[in-house]
Amino acid sequence: MGNPVENPGLPEHVHRRADEDPKAEKRAERQVASLFALSALSTILFIYSYFFIKKDVFAFIPLLGNMNIQQLLLGLGLAGAFLFIGLGAVAWARQLMPDTEVVAQRHEFRSADEDRKEFVETVKTQAAAAGIGRRPLIKRTLGAALGLVGLGPIIMLRDLGPLPEKELEKTSWKAGTRLVTDPGDRPIKASELEVGAVVQTLPEVDHPEHRSLNDIAKDPVLLIRLRPEDFNLDAERLSWTYEGIIAFSKICSHMGCAVALYEQSTHHLLCPCHQSTFDVTRAAKVIFGPAARPLPQLAITVDSEGYLIAKQPFTESVGPSYWERDSK
Ligand code: FES
Repeated sequence: MGNPVENPGLPEHVHRRADEDPKAEKRAERQVASLFALSALSTILFIYSYFFIKKDVFAFIPLLGNMNIQQLLLGLGLAGAFLFIGLGAVAWARQLMPDTEVVAQRHEFRSADEDRKEFVETVKTQAAAAGIGRRPLIKRTLGAALGLVGLGPIIMLRDLGPLPEKELEKTSWKAGTRLVTDPGDRPIKASELEVGAVVQTLPEVDHPEHRSLNDIAKDPVLLIRLRPEDFNLDAERLSWTYEGIIAFSKICSHMGCAVALYEQSTHHLLCPCHQSTFDVTRAAKVIFGPAARPLPQLAITVDSEGYLIAKQPFTESVGPSYWERDSK
């Protein structure tokens, strides 16, 4: 029985210009080298942007809108560094690497040992034929591109530091700082709060619109008004309250969620994340859940105009427990 489909064979091999014309070969070589050089320049742009362009410079870019210039250049630099290495490698393979056609017949998956050996030999021979040794321009620019492209990710490791150290223990609360509503930034008079009231507050600052995220994450305080006889506090903690008003950090001592639920009938504060429950009458003692310590209490009083103020900064770190904090 004859073969139903005639083997069309291979089309005639068309040689590339670079294989036949030394000038075209040189041109191709320069083109490849230029692409690798562009990759190196892109990495330099990335490094320059990272260190020398300010983080808060914005400009209007057509089609993109208002853009942060540092972010834009970092993105372009990193993208260019990888893109041009890729384009250079493709151009090199298409125009300069050996252009021989090979027919591979189907065979079982694992090649015979001789074939495998032959393959290794071929790779070595072809690598030599690729002529990296003979093309110092490509060798140098590829070396520069590959050498530099790894620097980008390494430089970004710098963003993991510096360590916050004592910063985690500081908040914006100082002796005499007024408590203001959040939102609204309005000072609060003790007389405004009725028994059972809960108010979220922040420390008063000159420019509330410039509060840093860092501060917003650590400063919130909950004010709660009870009847003074409901408290079950020692003398010191009682002196930190004002006419039944008590203040606690709103940042959960378990993992830092906002403690947001107050149950008026039981005087319990609840964290919605893992249900830690704090007893307001006993200085936010943990009565349920995974939190390991009470919510830090802020000592409060009023100023000469009757506005609530902090008597002193927090005496312990607010927020979640972590391995370096003391256990106060
Ligand atoms: S973060 Fe509050 S209970 Fe886990």
